[in-house]
Amino acid sequence: MDTINLPLFEPSLEHSFSGVVKSLRFCKALKFKEITLSSISKVLYAIQGCTGTSHWTTLRAIPSAGATYPLKIYVSLYSRDTGSGFYEYKSSRGKLVFIKPGKEKQTKMFIHAIFSRTTRYYGSRGERYVLMEVGHALQNSLLESSVLNIDMSYELNIEEINRELKEGGKPLAVIELGECIEKPAFEHRNRKYEGISIGLRHVKLPELSLEKAILKRRSVRKYSSRKLSLEELTYVIYYSFGRLWNDHRPYAPPLNVYYLNMFLVAGEVDGLDSGIYFYNDEKNELVLLKKGDFRKKLYDAALRQEWILKAPVNILLAGGGVDKQYLDVETGMIGQNIYLAATSIGLGTVAIGAFYDEEVADVIGVDEQPLYIMPIGRL
Ligand SMILES: Cc1cc2nc3c(=O)[nH]c(=O)nc-3n(C[C@H](O)[C@H](O)[C@H](O)COP(=O)(O)O)c2cc1C
Repeated sequence: MDTINLPLFEPSLEHSFSGVVKSLRFCKALKFKEITLSSISKVLYAIQGCTGTSHWTTLRAIPSAGATYPLKIYVSLYSRDTGSGFYEYKSSRGKLVFIKPGKEKQTKMFIHAIFSRTTRYYGSRGERYVLMEVGHALQNSLLESSVLNIDMSYELNIEEINRELKEGGKPLAVIELGECIEKPAFEHRNRKYEGISIGLRHVKLPELSLEKAILKRRSVRKYSSRKLSLEELTYVIYYSFGRLWNDHRPYAPPLNVYYLNMFLVAGEVDGLDSGIYFYNDEKNELVLLKKGDFRKKLYDAALRQEWILKAPVNILLAGGGVDKQYLDVETGMIGQNIYLAATSIGLGTVAIGAFYDEEVADVIGVDEQPLYIMPIGRL
């Protein structure tokens, strides 16, 4: 067993983001299926592959708070012919480095984190960010596996967080790839809000393939002043959070329960009055909570990050009712969908985790934990 050079990621499959999220291949239990190295390489790339550079570091397929990249990925490869090996994924070099013979008889990926890479800059809030990044990684893995016709399950170990990488420490998440033998059931336990409602129609818009969107995704903080259309906004919220998969949302939440809600702080969307809205995924409708333009208040509550003020609309994710670590992971999953949905139709967004929690909750007027603000705008 030796170092394995992985093939370059070629976005060869044409499946659109909106098509893939309707047929996610998430499973509760799997049996062995031989998976090619090129498929494994694509899933790894979606989790942590290098897709760009900034002036000081390489950027990855998933976002990372302050580009601190705390996640470390290990892989157990198994084939009936060659047996099992345990490798470290070196994303910047596109390699798998052999560590030891493996024990697993399935293809598995292990997500560990070096928390201090992020907490050094963000203190205890950095722990939240790391778990959000685990959510982003799991979602990209599920999307890419689904395109490749591979079933996926995952397990989380986040009650007892293994904060630094140490011998024998548990991974935060274990992804397993194979063939499905049992599908899970999902439950909705998010809060509901009543009010005047606006039903959403979704239209087909020209879009990128999922693989191209994964490659192209970047955080965008400058938007043109042109208004967003209600159709574009609907595309982003419906395909990232709507009920489009057997009455389920397009991701597989921890504990198989949906705890998160989506709100909008709308300012300049054609066909939608300025206001704060709750997105009712059950009915695909917006429920008006407060009329008026609240972007300035949201911007003030979020360290005056200008992109909040300038974007025609901001999505806010918030939740409650379960240990916060689970909310963090669910947030990352939805956040990844929002990034990819926006990228697919040529819009820009950025995940914002830095804000005053109580003040943001007060702007929205709900008693839930705010987790991400994601401005959406035109490039
Ligand atoms: C958990 C988390 C929190 C983040 N918080 C902020 C934020 O408060 N403000 C901001 O402008 N960007 C924020 N970002 C975006 C990162 O700065 C960005 O992902 C990183 O610079 C890498 O660039 P890329 O997303 O273009 O790959 C956050 C990203 C994550 C994953």
